[in-house]
Amino acid sequence: MKHELDDKRLVITGAASGIGRATAILAAAEGARVVAVDLADAVEETVHEIKEAGGHAVAVKADVSDEDAVAGFIDRCVSEFGGLDGVYANAGVSSGRRTLAELTVEDWQRTLAINTVGVFLAIKHAVPHLTKQGSGALLCTASVAGLRANAGGVDYSASKAGVISIVQTVAYQLYGTGVRINAICPGLIETGMTRPAFERARERGTEERIGQINPTRRAGQPIEIAQMACFLLSDRASYVNGQAVPVDGGLSASHPWVFPRS
Ligand SMILES: NC(=O)c1ccc[n+]([C@@H]2O[C@H](COP(=O)([O-])OP(=O)(O)OC[C@H]3O[C@@H](n4cnc5c(N)ncnc54)[C@H](O)[C@@H]3O)[C@@H](O)[C@H]2O)c1
Repeated sequence: MKHELDDKRLVITGAASGIGRATAILAAAEGARVVAVDLADAVEETVHEIKEAGGHAVAVKADVSDEDAVAGFIDRCVSEFGGLDGVYANAGVSSGRRTLAELTVEDWQRTLAINTVGVFLAIKHAVPHLTKQGSGALLCTASVAGLRANAGGVDYSASKAGVISIVQTVAYQLYGTGVRINAICPGLIETGMTRPAFERARERGTEERIGQINPTRRAGQPIEIAQMACFLLSDRASYVNGQAVPVDGGLSASHPWVFPRS
């Protein structure tokens, strides 16, 4: 049986948890060979789960904001699997609920180094391989926070708007090369990053209010982002390029809206 990602050799960052973990597992189930990258030890568990299911993956512990480490994990895909067909630059951090006044320059530098420069570095080191073979898919995780206000702090939102800008700009720098680049803009997804908010709501008994301001009336799960990621990394998305695709239950479709109380 043919799978969506048969024969694709992919690098996926942030693969120890949440969206990256779900994407690595789904991509491997769809036939991809995966270099799973993360700072956290749990990336080994993702790879273990893939192998248990009969898939192919290797774990690399690396910091996506360190250029030598990025060059290393891109090269690892080539040495391990004989080439590179796609990169999902997904690893990211949030500085939480810090206000404008509380945010420091160090907060900004960390957020931008991982969320924005990390994406740039993955693209920079993948592009020579992909343009040489004349095909490939680059994918990044931006956020609805990069489209509009109220989904993150100032540094986080700016870092994600930067990712969208990278995608639009690089799509044109890759003019005529056969290489595509896109971003996903997730809405509120239950992952390691957002778990504290979900746990607080469960403790208070207000869980049903999470996600109520979008028309799907709930938060999303990592697999719902992974499904879009696998599509955008596959040849089925051959004419999707330079886009920031919201996967947010409809949240970003609206003008300001008052939740109807019954
Ligand atoms: N969860 C949401 O609601 C949401 C919404 C929009 C966008 N996003 C974005 O989705 C992406 C994935 O996050 P998630 O929600 O799955 O959270 P998560 O915390 O579950 O996963 C993020 C992973 O990135 C890894 N990571 C962080 N810094 C790293 C670094 N310097 N080098 C290597 N790995 C690093 C973490 O160890 C973690 O495993 C992030 O870019 C995040 O900003 C999340």
